[in-house]
Amino acid sequence: MSEKKVPADTCVLVTGGAGFIGSHTVVELLQQGYHAVVVDDLSNSSEKAVDRIKAIVGPEAAANLRFYQADVNDRAALEQVFTDNAIDRVIHFAGFKAVGESVEKPIEYYTNNIGNTLTLVDVMRAHGCKSIIFSSSATVYGEPDSLPLTEESPKKPATNPYGWTKWMIEQILTDLHTADPEWDVVLLRYFNPIGAHPSGLIGEDPKGIPNNLVPYVAQVAVGKREFVRVWGDDYPTPDGTGVRDYIHVMDLASGHVAALAWMNGRTGVEVFNLGTGKGSSVLDVIHAFSRACGRDLPYQIGPRRAGDVVANYADCSKAEREMGWTARYDLDDMCRDSWNWQSKNPDGYEG
Ligand code: UFG
Repeated sequence: MSEKKVPADTCVLVTGGAGFIGSHTVVELLQQGYHAVVVDDLSNSSEKAVDRIKAIVGPEAAANLRFYQADVNDRAALEQVFTDNAIDRVIHFAGFKAVGESVEKPIEYYTNNIGNTLTLVDVMRAHGCKSIIFSSSATVYGEPDSLPLTEESPKKPATNPYGWTKWMIEQILTDLHTADPEWDVVLLRYFNPIGAHPSGLIGEDPKGIPNNLVPYVAQVAVGKREFVRVWGDDYPTPDGTGVRDYIHVMDLASGHVAALAWMNGRTGVEVFNLGTGKGSSVLDVIHAFSRACGRDLPYQIGPRRAGDVVANYADCSKAEREMGWTARYDLDDMCRDSWNWQSKNPDGYEG
C-alpha cells in the first residue's frame, strides 16, 4: 500500500517531464512543495524547458528538481534513477504522440509507448513503488454514443496505433492492480490540451508541421504559415466544424497535483476525465485566437480528416466530486496564453 505523505516528503518521478504537459506539471509540483525527478530523453522536447521550469519556480523550489536525460526504455538508466532517489509516486507522460505518424510507424509506437511502460512498472515494482498516474486520452472513447462523456462511457476500438497504446496501457495498469491490489493507479483521460504557462517561458513546441489545431493556428498568427486549413465544415455540429473540449495545460497540471493528493495512501484503479465540459468548434478556436493576437486569422475549408470524431466533450463532475478539481481557464485565456508563448518564442525553444 502506498504510504500517506505530505508534499515536502514526497518524491515524484515524472517521465516525459520536459514535454508540453510534463513541464507544466513539474512547475505545479515544485510550487506545491513536492520533490520532482524528471526523466526525459529529449527526443521531442528540450533541456531548455528544464532550465525554464527552474526560472519560473525560483531557486528554492528548483533545488527540489533533478533531471536525467534518459529513455524510459533504458532499464539500467531507470534502475539508477530509482537507486539514487527514493521515488514515492510516478507520473508517466513519456511517449510518442503523433496520431498520423503512429499509422506509419506502428512498431516504433508500440515498442516505445508500451515497452517503456512495462519497463517502468517492472522497475517500480522492484523498488517497492506502486503508485502511478498515467497520461491517458479521450481517444479511448472513440466516436461517442452520447455527450458529455463520463468515465463510464464505453471504450471503443482506437482508430490508430497511438490511440491503441493509450487504450492498452490503461488495460495493462488495470491488470497490474488485479494481480497485486497494493498498486495505486490513476488514469487521467485528457481532452484537448492547449495554452501555455502565463509567463510565456514554457509551452508546446511541435517539431515540423503541427498536426494539432492550436499549434498550427499559432504558427499562422506568428506568420510562419499562410492560413489554417479547417478539416471539414459539414459535420452535424452548430457551425459544421469539429467540436472538442479544449483545456488549458495549467488546468491539466493542477489536475495531476490534485490526483496526487487524492491518491495519497489509497490503492485501486481510478479513471478521471480532465476537460472543461465545454465543447468548442474549430471556428470558435480560430476566432478566439484572432481576438488574442489582434487580427483575423485566414482559414480555408478543406475535406474531413480521416479518423476524426465529430464532437467530444467531457463530463468532469467526478474529478470535482472526488478530487475537488475543476478547470478554471476558458478558451480566451487558453488562446491568450498560447499566443503569448508563440509570440515570445516563434521558433520554440530553439529560437
Ligand atoms: N483541425 C483542423 N485543422 C488543423 C488541425 C486540426 O481543422 O490543421 C481540426 C480537427 O479536424 C479537429 C480539431 O481541429 O476537429 C482538433 O484537432 P486536433 O488535431 O487539435 O486534436 P484531435 O482532437 O484530433 O486530437 C486530440 C489529441 C490526440 C488524440 C485525439 C483523439 O491531440 O492526442 O484527440 O482523441 F489522439
